[in-house]
Amino acid sequence: MSSHSNQGRVLSGMRPTGRLHLGHYHGVLKNWLKLQHEYECFFFVADWHALTTHYEDPHLIAESVWDMVVDWLAAGINPGSANLFIQSHVPEHAELHLLLSMVTPLGWLERVPSYKDQQEKLREKDLATYGFLGYPLLQSADILIYKATQVPVGEDQVAHVELTREIARRFNHLYGREPDFEEKARTAAKKMGKKNARLYTDLRKRYQEQGDHEALDIGRALLEGQQNLTLGDRERLFGYLEGSSRIILAEPDALLTPASKMPGLDGQKMSKSYENTISLREDPEVIQQKLRTMPTDPARVRRTDAGNPEKCPVWQLHQVYSDDEVRAWVQEGCTTAGIGCLDCKQPVIDAVVGELAPIRERAQVFESDTARVRKIIDEGCETARSISRDTLEEVRQAMGLQYG
Ligand code: TRP
Ligand code: SF4
Repeated sequence: MSSHSNQGRVLSGMRPTGRLHLGHYHGVLKNWLKLQHEYECFFFVADWHALTTHYEDPHLIAESVWDMVVDWLAAGINPGSANLFIQSHVPEHAELHLLLSMVTPLGWLERVPSYKDQQEKLREKDLATYGFLGYPLLQSADILIYKATQVPVGEDQVAHVELTREIARRFNHLYGREPDFEEKARTAAKKMGKKNARLYTDLRKRYQEQGDHEALDIGRALLEGQQNLTLGDRERLFGYLEGSSRIILAEPDALLTPASKMPGLDGQKMSKSYENTISLREDPEVIQQKLRTMPTDPARVRRTDAGNPEKCPVWQLHQVYSDDEVRAWVQEGCTTAGIGCLDCKQPVIDAVVGELAPIRERAQVFESDTARVRKIIDEGCETARSISRDTLEEVRQAMGLQYG
């Protein structure tokens, strides 16, 4: 893991509320597969998050947790490159959530767009709960406890990362102030050596007096490169560079996940609630049957009617799975009634079955070796807990919760 740790730390979670499907694979999972080679990664099963909306069916969550881990592994998430864990196995998230809740203005939570949106969308559920209002803050705790630098999220979650940044800033402002901060920061700077200390002071001035962001970046890089500073001194120097308090909780950046092009069987977004999914472990027979019965251009009633791919959800699947040659064949065949819809679907069926075959196979291996899967999660939890404990210790100390 040390090989990519300079790149930063990535944290992301997924809610266990059912089987993973091709939409998850082409959206989130393929992105994770890439990230695990580029960053130090923490991926977790967000079971507490699932409870904020599914508190009435906890069995669904219980059934989905291990399936989700198996699906990740089957898709190629490598426990040697990424730490995998279950949120509720790291109870430190809950303590940080509680402590952060003390300083979180209600308005900040009420203003998060997903709060009203999800309540509207999931009307059949009563989401006027304390837990649901607080769930973006729980997400902030998930992120801040690891001092994650990058958080891969979809468009709908960018506001949560933004909230996280505001919470971190507020926390640092409230608790990063020390009576003798300036003096401590200056002493810390000297520990970098005369030359670096002078450079640091200069960069700080350029940023604070002239708003020179390049100087800020250079200053940060200078601090990143220092091996001999204590954690406390680092935080002071990062904080002093920008303002007048220690940086205890680091502000993360959102890493926007490109939206998946994978449509559902009806041409809408693939989603469990639309019942238009193909699961990652779908039986090949069922894949075939689902695709064969999938709707096509409604104008193509008879085999002899010409069609228009633009009006057909199967065409969207060709965008994901077919090369130029096949697509040209579809265009020509559809608009001249040269091919039938079942002919047209065959290359897609073959591609989906082919894509999922190795995943299904690997899932079977992991499913029959529960001990191995549990060990992977236990190890991920251990690493996660050890980092979480350290952060929490600092947070408690900063808030004065050290009564000995
Ligand atoms: N809220 C996210 C979702 O609904 C899941 C999640 C929980 C998450 N905590 C996170 C994602 C932290 C990124 C980082 O999909
Ligand atoms: Fe759709 Fe293909 Fe049928 Fe045309 S031939 S309507 S693109 S399934």
